[in-house]
Amino acid sequence: MFQLGLVGYPVKHSLSPWIHEQFLKVTQLTGMYNLYEINPIKQTFKKEIEQIKERTDGFNVTLPYKQSIIPFLDILDETAQQSGAVNTVVRQHGKWIGFNTDGIGYVRSLKIEYPHLFSSNDIKVLIIGAGGASRGIYYALINEGFSSIDITNRTIEKAMHIVEDSCAETNIYCLEQIQKVLDTYDLIIQTTSVGMKPNEHEFILPVNKLKGGAVVSDIVYQPIFTSFLQQAKAKGALIHYGHTMLLYQALYAFEIWTNKQISIHKLDLRNKLTDILKGK
Ligand code: ATR
Repeated sequence: MFQLGLVGYPVKHSLSPWIHEQFLKVTQLTGMYNLYEINPIKQTFKKEIEQIKERTDGFNVTLPYKQSIIPFLDILDETAQQSGAVNTVVRQHGKWIGFNTDGIGYVRSLKIEYPHLFSSNDIKVLIIGAGGASRGIYYALINEGFSSIDITNRTIEKAMHIVEDSCAETNIYCLEQIQKVLDTYDLIIQTTSVGMKPNEHEFILPVNKLKGGAVVSDIVYQPIFTSFLQQAKAKGALIHYGHTMLLYQALYAFEIWTNKQISIHKLDLRNKLTDILKGK
C-alpha cells in the first residue's frame, strides 16, 4: 500500500489527488494520496515534515516549500540540483531523495505531441520567464540535446542567473526586444504566471508574427486556453497546453515512487482532465 501525498499551502484545490488516483487505478496498485496543508504562518514545517516522512513512502512538494524541503532530504538528484527546487521526494533504502519532475514532465509531454521537434538539429527555442519553471524546462531541454535556447524576462538578471552554468548558446532579451524577433523561433514556451485565473485576460506579450509551423506552449493550465495561446493559435501556431505538462510531471513522480510505467497517451486522462478544468 503506497502512502503518498502533497505538501504545500494552499493545496485544497490541487488536481494531484485525482491524477494519482487515476494512475493507481490503471496500475492496479493500492495506495492513498493525502493532502498535507502546512500554513507557513504557524512555523510548524519542521515538525510536520518529520511526521509526514514517518507516515509516507514519498510525496510531492509545492509552493511555498519547494526549497525549504531541501535540508530535510539526504540526496538531491540532478533535476533537483539543476533547478534548485524539489517537487517530488521518495524514500529509498532509508534515504530521502529529492527530484524535480517539472522539466522532464514538460519535455515528455512535448515529445508525445510534437515528436518532430526532437528529430531536427536546428530547432530554435525561446523561453519566456525566468522563475523556477523556466529553469527546470531550460535544463531539461539542454539534457535532451537542444542547443539554441534563448530566454526573455522582465528582469534580465534573473535570466542571466539561469544560464550561468549552461553549455548552451543562449541569448537573453528583454520583453520589448523579443517581440521583433518572435518569428525566428520554432518553439516558444511561456513559463510565467501571467494569464492565470483570475487574470485570464492578461498576456505576457502580444503575438504579432510567428514562424510557419511554430509550436507555442503555455505552462498555465487555468484557463486551459490562455489569452497568449489564443493569440498564438490565431497566428497559425501549433498549441501545446499546460495541463499536458501537469499530467506528465505527475506521471514521472508516480514512476519514481512505484517503478511502474504508464502509457498515458493511450488513456483518456487528458480529456478527462480537460473536463475537470473546464468545470464539467
Ligand atoms: P515559478 O517558480 O512558478 O516559475 P516565479 O519564480 O515566481 O515562479 O517566476 C515567475 C516568473 O514570472 C518570472 O519570470 C517573473 O518575472 P520577473 O523575473 O521579472 O519577476 C514572471 N512574471 C510574473 N509576473 C509578471 C508580470 N506581471 N509581468 C512580467 N513577468 C512576470
